Amino acid sequence: MKIGVIGAGRIGGNCARQAVKGGHDVMLSFSRDPSTLDTLAAELGPRASAGTPAEVVAFAEIVIFAVPWGTIPDALAAAGDLNGKIVVDTTNQFGSGAMPEAGQTAAAFNARRMPGARYVKSFNTLTSQFQAQAASRQGEDRVVQWVCGDDPDAKALVARLIEDMGYVPVDLGGTATCSVMEAPRRRGAVYGEEYRAADAQAVVEAVRAGAAIPPVPAYA
Ligand SMILES: NC(=O)c1ccc[n+]([C@@H]2O[C@H](COP(=O)([O-])OP(=O)(O)OC[C@H]3O[C@@H](n4cnc5c(N)ncnc54)[C@H](OP(=O)(O)O)[C@@H]3O)[C@@H](O)[C@H]2O)c1
Repeated sequence: MKIGVIGAGRIGGNCARQAVKGGHDVMLSFSRDPSTLDTLAAELGPRASAGTPAEVVAFAEIVIFAVPWGTIPDALAAAGDLNGKIVVDTTNQFGSGAMPEAGQTAAAFNARRMPGARYVKSFNTLTSQFQAQAASRQGEDRVVQWVCGDDPDAKALVARLIEDMGYVPVDLGGTATCSVMEAPRRRGAVYGEEYRAADAQAVVEAVRAGAAIPPVPAYA
């Protein structure tokens, strides 16, 4: 697939790296110093290129959106029309900028800021360093990347990409009910915690039932 990245830093850069390893083409964008995008693209090889956010939106089947929270309005302005585009939001609501209302998930808040986009949220619960290290794991040791969104087909395509990157995609449901995968790290949430496939289904069932999730698993 053609994967676009808006914000090719720690999270977006790792997503780009794993997408290339998984056989996908990537285009990187959005930097205060665009020469850094050329450098990273050269490092990633012939499957990678650099462009503007608008060029990324035109290029990509899936756009990975990985910018600091306070920069979201600028990044969206640079991206332009997202109508019909699958956008994977990796952001967490830290720092400056407009915030979700009480009781509103960050996913629902950001989905409204991306009108027409086929919004999916993922890659936001684990540190970039951990994600980079864990991508090479095999079999039952692979880590879960939680996914939420209100467009099942978009989530299915993103799930394929997540698998190709070396992780296990697990669909937690819609944007209105995904608060367990959102910051901050706290008791009763999956945010900030490692999960593997064997422990994920019980979380999905608890979220669907509106119940508390089981205790966070501990891995040797
Ligand atoms: N880091 C983590 O462990 C982690 C984990 C999960 C989720 N997240 C979330 O993912 C999102 C991206 O985080 P990150 O850690 O990948 O951030 P990052 O390393 O700082 O990367 C952000 C990218 O946005 C670019 N950018 C363009 N204009 C910018 C501006 N005006 N100000 C700041 N950056 C600008 C930066 O490029 P230049 O620096 O070249 O300008 C940089 O490549 C955040 O919302 C964060 O909360 C982070």
